[in-house]
Amino acid sequence: MATLRLGDIAPDFVQDSTEGQIRFHEWAGNSWVVLFSHPADFTPVCTTELGKTAALASEFAKRGVKPIAVSVDPIESHSGWIKDINETQNTTVNFPILADADRKVATLYDMIHPNSLANATVRSVFIIDPKKAIRATLTYPASTGRNFDEILRVIDSLQLTDNYKVATPVNWKDGDDCVIIPSIQDPAELAQRFPKGFRAVRPYLRLTPQPNKT
Ligand code: BEZ
Repeated sequence: MATLRLGDIAPDFVQDSTEGQIRFHEWAGNSWVVLFSHPADFTPVCTTELGKTAALASEFAKRGVKPIAVSVDPIESHSGWIKDINETQNTTVNFPILADADRKVATLYDMIHPNSLANATVRSVFIIDPKKAIRATLTYPASTGRNFDEILRVIDSLQLTDNYKVATPVNWKDGDDCVIIPSIQDPAELAQRFPKGFRAVRPYLRLTPQPNKT
């Protein structure tokens, strides 16, 4: 199994889920995807993470993103757990949870890290674009719940920087100033691409208002 790196095509698979059989690339269609694993059903941290993902449904939809969870437990277990998530997190799970009891997806995406957690998946996140390219990955241990606002923030940065010649600085969030990529030097191009102007703190550090905000 080769290491998956940024820019690689996310491996396709067919696997059962709480919403029926999923053919991954077909299911993803033209959407962005957040594919994320968690160690096991009926565990406290995972319960809060899946509840938060459901609660953020409109934020994912606004960005054209489909979330999909991976767990190495079977469908029957997922179904019971979803009831608990909905009750305890006051939400409705509205995305598929893959039933990866045979670890097909976990193995394909190298989500089992035996030196950390013997035979369950660690908290992996793959952010995948509409061309099925892996654009960002996160790996957290079982004991640390992920920050789903951070996942949305990374998606905002990816979608912005795909369309404008900017990058996003430390702790950037949607609406903050961006940095102009250093390769843009021509004054006419700078004026055309950044009509709101820019501030050169250093020749290589130029800040401009977020281009797609009015
Ligand atoms: C949890 O999701 O709460 C959890 C799972 C495995 C180990 C520790 C915590």
